[in-house]
Formats: sequence, structure tokens, C-alpha cells
Amino acid sequence: MARSVVKHTCTRYSVILTLSGLLGAALVVDFLWASSSFSSSAYQSIASNWALQKSRIIVVPNVATIAEKIVDAKDKKEGVPQRFLSATYADLPAPDLQWEEMPAAPVPRLDGAAIQIKNLLYVFAGYGSLDYVHSHVDIYNFTDNSWGGRFDMPKEMAHSHLGMATDGRYIYVVSGQYGPQCRGPVAHTFVLDTETKIWQSMPPLPAPRYAPATQLWRGRLHVMGGSKENRHTPGLEHWSLAVNNGKALEKAWQD
Ligand SMILES: *[C@@H]1O[C@H](CO)[C@@H](O)[C@H](O)[C@H]1NC(C)=O
Repeated sequence: MARSVVKHTCTRYSVILTLSGLLGAALVVDFLWASSSFSSSAYQSIASNWALQKSRIIVVPNVATIAEKIVDAKDKKEGVPQRFLSATYADLPAPDLQWEEMPAAPVPRLDGAAIQIKNLLYVFAGYGSLDYVHSHVDIYNFTDNSWGGRFDMPKEMAHSHLGMATDGRYIYVVSGQYGPQCRGPVAHTFVLDTETKIWQSMPPLPAPRYAPATQLWRGRLHVMGGSKENRHTPGLEHWSLAVNNGKALEKAWQD
């Protein structure tokens, strides 16, 4: 399942700007410290003592030193150098996978959503450019490796940052960003019957969300997290709705 909706493209630039601003400020502060009566090493020792007192430090060993020691140990034939790693990070033999180029998609797409059912990949919405969002679905057929079967989405459906889940026939599309650039999110929720390509609306989420985690589990559509309307406040709610064969069995989402 190719769900790559959680990218907040619009905030990336402001994050970069903020980081470079902070870096600039830090350089100025460091320069002022260095040129004041404190030497910069005195400042550093104050800073690191403060950090040691204020927080529980996890000692991160110097990688270069470790590498030198490993080389030394090998040279001196002192046996295998030891590394302390959780089994989770142990090297596993990788499968010998090969990349293959597919036919280019019918349109360029950023932050759309896609979900595979059997041999068909349904690709929804997304940006064509920063000022233009797609309002259709493209289908890729893995049997004959071709794109085809384009059809429209409902007018009110969001275009990016979608929550999406499927039971193998019905695809649920929950909230997301409506419109291009950095527009706001909507609560609108829809279900697509992939056999008939007919859309139905579902009860709207209690509040709009960008890119909520969406999962079908034990007859309920669960929606968690995502961002709130201001784009950066995490939504901490968990809502669910009883569903069966593309129909909501309840009038509203439950907390
Ligand atoms: C996918 O391709 C196969 C082989 O050409 C074809 O039989 C099948 O009908 C296609 N499926 C759809 C939904 O177009």
C-alpha cells in the first residue's frame, strides 16, 4: 500500500527557514560569548555542565574513536571487536530485489494517495502543481502493466493528506486537505465501491484532520491522529465508526 500522505510539504519551507534562523541566532550568540570576558571554552563547559545536571544524558560514543579501535584491534589480532546492538538492529541478509521502470503515470502527482486491490492500483487526487490539485482517480493494471480507467472523485472530497483504508472492495477516504497550496482540511468522508465505481458519502469526522491514521479493524473504521486545522497541532483523538460493505452502521463517529 503506497500511503505517502503524511508529508507536510508546505511546512517544510518554514521549518528550513526557522532552522536557519535559529542557526544564525546561535552563531551570533556564540560570537558575543566568545568576544565577551568569557572564553568560548568556558561557555561550552558551563553549557555542558548545565545539560548534565538538567537532563539524563545518554552517552553517545565517538564513532571515529570506535572505528579506530576496531581497526587497531584487527591489526593487533585481538579478536573480533565487540559492538553492543539490540537484535532489532542486527544485519539481516537482504533479498536480491531488482527495480523495474513502470510506464509513467498519466499525470504528475504530489501527496496523492494510493491503495492496491488485487491487480489494480487506485491512485487518488494529489497536487499536479502547487496551484493545481487533481480531482480524479487513475488506475494502474498490474496484469498488463498499463494505466487506464480514470474517473472523477466527489467535488467535496479532499485532495491531499487523505486518510484511507480498504476491505478489498470498498475504499474509505477520510478527511484531508481541500484545495491547493496550504489550504485547510475538511471532515468530509466518502466510500468508493471499486466494483461499480460509485461514491457514497459517509458521516463526516467530528473535526477536520490532515492525514489521520486510518484503519479498518473488527468491523469498525478507526481514525487517529493527523493534524488539526492550524496544520501543526497533533490531533490526539481516536474516533471509530461501525461499517459494513461500504455502509455506515452508525449515524456518527464514536469517541
Ligand atoms: C487488466 O488487464 C487484464 C489483461 O489485459 C485484463 O484482462 C483486465 O480486464 C484488466 N482489468 C481492468 C480492470 O481493466
